[in-house]
Amino acid sequence: MTAQQQPTGRPVQALTGKLSEYRTFFQTAMHNPRMVGAATPTSSAVAATVAQVVPSTGNPTVVELGPGTGSLSDGIHSRLPRGARHLGIELGADLVAHLREHKPWLDVVHGDAGDLISVLSERGIDQVDAVVSSIPWSLLDDELQGHILGQAAKALTPNGAFTALTYLPAERTRNARRFRERLHETFDEVLTHTTWRNFPPILHYICRRPRV
Ligand SMILES: C[S@@+](CC[C@H](N)C(=O)[O-])C[C@H]1O[C@@H](n2cnc3c(N)ncnc32)[C@H](O)[C@@H]1O
Repeated sequence: MTAQQQPTGRPVQALTGKLSEYRTFFQTAMHNPRMVGAATPTSSAVAATVAQVVPSTGNPTVVELGPGTGSLSDGIHSRLPRGARHLGIELGADLVAHLREHKPWLDVVHGDAGDLISVLSERGIDQVDAVVSSIPWSLLDDELQGHILGQAAKALTPNGAFTALTYLPAERTRNARRFRERLHETFDEVLTHTTWRNFPPILHYICRRPRV
């Protein structure tokens, strides 16, 4: 490759990577719309806000529930200190394969967020410092929603942080209201933040001090 050709190599690689990410995500969403709950991965603006929730010092352990193609994982990874543990629990087999190929630093578990406590205990992890979740909470039935949220709260250290993403336009639905109430029952502190640079805009819930 000549010196003149070099600068074009990286953008082409990046574009190919993005196309593969979007194709894998979209195909999975087409086959399993209720599992994925979105047509495209979330934006880098969403990822930047989510990453702020994870500790940047010490030896933290962070779990992502539903990492998909890893659109939030890069931001989390670049903020985590050396020695941190970063796990992702993903239900979609093709998404798991994509993550294992493109994010080799992520400890990817092909499994269900509802099995969080047993996944952690199999790895000798008692508690985690942050749970980042982007599973489609509002599409889950009442019992499953309560179960997964309970597992996340139980897994956290007393000062650990839980974050969930929901679509802002869906916030008035009954399921979304039920989820919000449940967050207030489960955590002592529940804050919100909106990222407008995503289609549709995203409402972040950032929760601390689980009441367990
Ligand atoms: C809205 S997508 C978010 C993907 C990615 N984190 C992002 O922000 O672009 C939801 C993801 O959660 C996964 N998922 C849904 N239910 C799950 C469950 N019970 N356990 C683990 N992953 C789940 C889906 O397969 C999908 O990858």
